[in-house]
This record gives sequence, structure tokens and C-alpha cells, in this order.
Amino acid sequence: MKSGLYARLVLACAILLSVLLTGLGIVLGQFFPLFAGNTDLTIQHHYWLYLITVLVVAFLISLFVAARMMLQYAKPIDEITRIAVRIAEGDYLARTRMNGPEYDNELSIAINKIASNLQEMSLLRTMENERLKTLVESMGSGLLMFGRGGTVNLVNGVLEKTFGLSKKSIMGMTYKEIGLPPVVETLIDDVFMTEQVHESQVQLDGENSTAYVSVYGAPVIGRHGNWLGIVVVMHDITKLIRLEKVRKDFVANVSHELRTPVTSIKGFTETLLEGAMDDPAVMKMFLGIIQKESDRLHLLIDDLLALSGMESEGFTLQYATVDMKDVIDDALSAVSRNLEQKKMKTITNIPGHITIEGDIVRLVQVMVNLLTNAINYSSENKTITISVTDANERIRIEISDEGIGIEHLELPRLFERFYRVDRARSRDSGGTGLGLAIVKHLIESHNGTVDVESEIGVGTTFQIHLPKKQDY
Ligand SMILES: Nc1ncnc2c1ncn2[C@@H]1O[C@H](COP(=O)(O)OP(=O)(O)O)[C@@H](O)[C@H]1O
Ligand SMILES: [Mg+2]
Repeated sequence: MKSGLYARLVLACAILLSVLLTGLGIVLGQFFPLFAGNTDLTIQHHYWLYLITVLVVAFLISLFVAARMMLQYAKPIDEITRIAVRIAEGDYLARTRMNGPEYDNELSIAINKIASNLQEMSLLRTMENERLKTLVESMGSGLLMFGRGGTVNLVNGVLEKTFGLSKKSIMGMTYKEIGLPPVVETLIDDVFMTEQVHESQVQLDGENSTAYVSVYGAPVIGRHGNWLGIVVVMHDITKLIRLEKVRKDFVANVSHELRTPVTSIKGFTETLLEGAMDDPAVMKMFLGIIQKESDRLHLLIDDLLALSGMESEGFTLQYATVDMKDVIDDALSAVSRNLEQKKMKTITNIPGHITIEGDIVRLVQVMVNLLTNAINYSSENKTITISVTDANERIRIEISDEGIGIEHLELPRLFERFYRVDRARSRDSGGTGLGLAIVKHLIESHNGTVDVESEIGVGTTFQIHLPKKQDY
């Protein structure tokens, strides 16, 4: 380190004093022969000795006094300089001492003020950086930023995950080197070339799934209109696209399901009008068909309305204490005619009175749908068993039939709207394909679950779990 101002001043002072005193010694030495021309040599020696001693003592005393004085003025400057250097190196916590009158000067105060301002600014910058980082990481979309040269200078975790890239390895790479899907590369190219916003939807085919990403690329323009690079935001829209597909499929299914009975009604009516009605037997047969098809139409519309009602915003259940025995009795009486027609028996196992908090109308609807299926997909003279058991906080309801059973592969899709194992058979049985979708919806609204087990030719069991108490 360079010697401080204080040390240099003391040195300068010492040199100056020694030069002055040596000069004074020489001048005084000139006077000596004037009055001691013939004195002996010893006296001359003594005189020189005294002179030199006095000069050295004078030198030391004046140096001491000068040093003391400089200590007061130069030492604080050294201290302040040292602090200023530390501040310049980035240590904004450094402060000059304020103890002692020699430090109470404007320079010292100003340096401390600068340090505290810088400290505040750096704190603000750190906070802002943190905020930006949190924002970039938690925005839920992938973010990629390229500088003017087309190299990556910002990338967030979502993007890393979406494309399986690592931040460290792609920082500083150009967009062509990262290995982005070609569609995204083209989009970035377009933004670079036109300096305009570009958007597109990209399909990313993975090994066992397909994802859809919406890509938005925009130029980054600085405050003074200068071009700083481009930013690319990618948002996963797979769920949206899937929902859109479900909606489209649903509309297509509904149209198809509605068209079949309508075509049939139209056809038979036309045939009747064209002359078939002249034959009473034919007319009766045709009218019978028309009635059956209108019933189907009616059922379908009822089920569709029920489903859309359940899915609408304001749908609520009317909770009350419900005795499961009442639910099953109501459902059985609703399907009693179908049971009789197929000469089927039912066995009910309910130990005592099991009550839960639920909406009785909806629970009866669930049971009717499941019982109707059990009847429809069983041959005559079979038995349906309904059991209700207490399972601590929940109850379990099981409906078992001895019907045709369902292939294992079909089970996962069974609760989808309009999904049917055997279309023709289901239609003949008068089903709409919405029964199980409604069951699932209503059970889940009750915070319960519904599962199915089945074996071809042996039978099917639907198992429902419902909580006894609801929190609402
Ligand atoms: N108990 C059952 N036994 C055999 N198959 C069944 C049973 N319940 C439902 N399924 C199958 O599940 C499909 C969907 O049932 P559902 O939603 O009630 O529609 P639908 O009965 O109107 O066809 C039925 O078409 C049928 O193939
Ligand atoms: Mg059904």
C-alpha cells in the first residue's frame, strides 16, 4: 500500500527542518571565528558540540510539534481515503469514524452519506432482482430471452422442464443450437427478421404423450427505441386442447344420438302418410315404433339436461340426513316394472339404519341408474344384490349383478359420456349412454368415489364410497 498523506507530510517536514537547521548551523558556524579567533582547540570543539546538540534538539522538538499538528489534519484524511477505497470496492457498509473533533468535517460526512445511499441503492437492486427472479420462475409459462446477437441470456425453470434443457448448458447458445422444435425456431427467425410479434400453437410429440404449447415471440425494445433482443413465452395448453376435444366429441355424440331416433320417427311418419296408415295393423306397429323412438328421445334430452344442470355454476346438493334404506326402497320401486318384466330378484343387505348426509333425490337417481344397468345387462331370472356397510367415516354401497359382465379393457372408459361397450345392445335396452356419467358426477359431488369390478359372463359389481358427514 502507498504510504499515507500523514507519513509523507511528516517526512517532508523532517527534510525541510533538517535543511533549515543545517543552514542555520552553517550560518552560525561562520560567526565563530569572529569572536574566538585565538581560543584553543578544545573550546572550539565544545562550541561545535553545543551548537550541533542545540540544533538536533531544536530539530526534534519542532518535528514533534509539527507531527502533532499534522496528526490532527492529515490523519483523518488518511482514514477517510481508506474508507473511500473500500466503498469503491463495493463494501457499502464501510463508514468513517465520527468520534473525535478531527473527524467532524464535511468530507467525512459526505463520504458516509454516499456510502449509505449506495447501500440503499444496492439493497433496492437486490430486492428488485429477487422480485424479477421470483416472477420469472413462478409465472407458470416457459420464458426464453435472446440478446441482440441471438444468444440466450435468460431462461426459466418451466422452459427447462418443458424441453428437458438445462439452464447452464444453453446460456450463451444461439437459438439454432439449443435444439428447439423447428416450428419454434422458425417463429424466432420471423421475430428477428420482422421485429414484430408472432404467435403460434405447437404440437410436441413425446414418447408416450403429446403436449400442446402456445408460443409467443416478441421483440424487446428499450426505452429509447433501441432493439435489445427478443423474448419467447411458451404456455402449456394441453389441458385446454383436451377439453376442447372432449367438447367437440360431446357435440358430435349428442348430434348423432339425437339424429338416430329423429330419422326413425321421420321415416315411419312419412311411410304412414304415404299410404301405410290405411292398413290398421301396419299403422299400429309403426306408431308403436314412433312411440318407442320418442321415448328414447325424451330420455336422452332428460339425461342431457340433468348432466348440464349438474355441470352449471349454481348446481348445489340439498343436503339432509338420509337413511340409506329409504334410498334403496325408492330406487327399487322405480325399477320394479323392469324387474318384473325380466323376472329378476333382488337381495338387500342393510344392517339396521345407516344414515348419511346427502341429497336423497340425487342418491335415488344414482341407484336407479345402476339398477337399470344391472337389469338391462343381465338375462332373465338373475339376482341383483345390494349391500350397504359401515366403514368408519364412510359407508360402502355395493350393487352386484349376475349379468354379461364387462371386458377388463373397457372399464377405464366406462364412466365417459356416451361410452358404451356394445352400442347396438345398449340402444336396444333403451340406454342413453349417459347413465354412468351422471352416476360419477353425482357421487363426486357428494365427495364420494365409484369403482367397478367385472368378469365376463359372471357379473359386475359397482362399489360406491360416500362420506357420512359433508363439510360445507
Ligand atoms: N351392470 C352392467 N353390466 C354390464 N355392462 C354394463 C353394466 N353397466 C354398464 N355397462 C356398460 O357400460 C355402458 C355405459 O353405461 P351407461 O352409462 O349406463 O349407458 P347405457 O346404459 O345407456 O348404455 C353400457 O352401455 C354397458 O356397455
Ligand atoms: Mg345405463
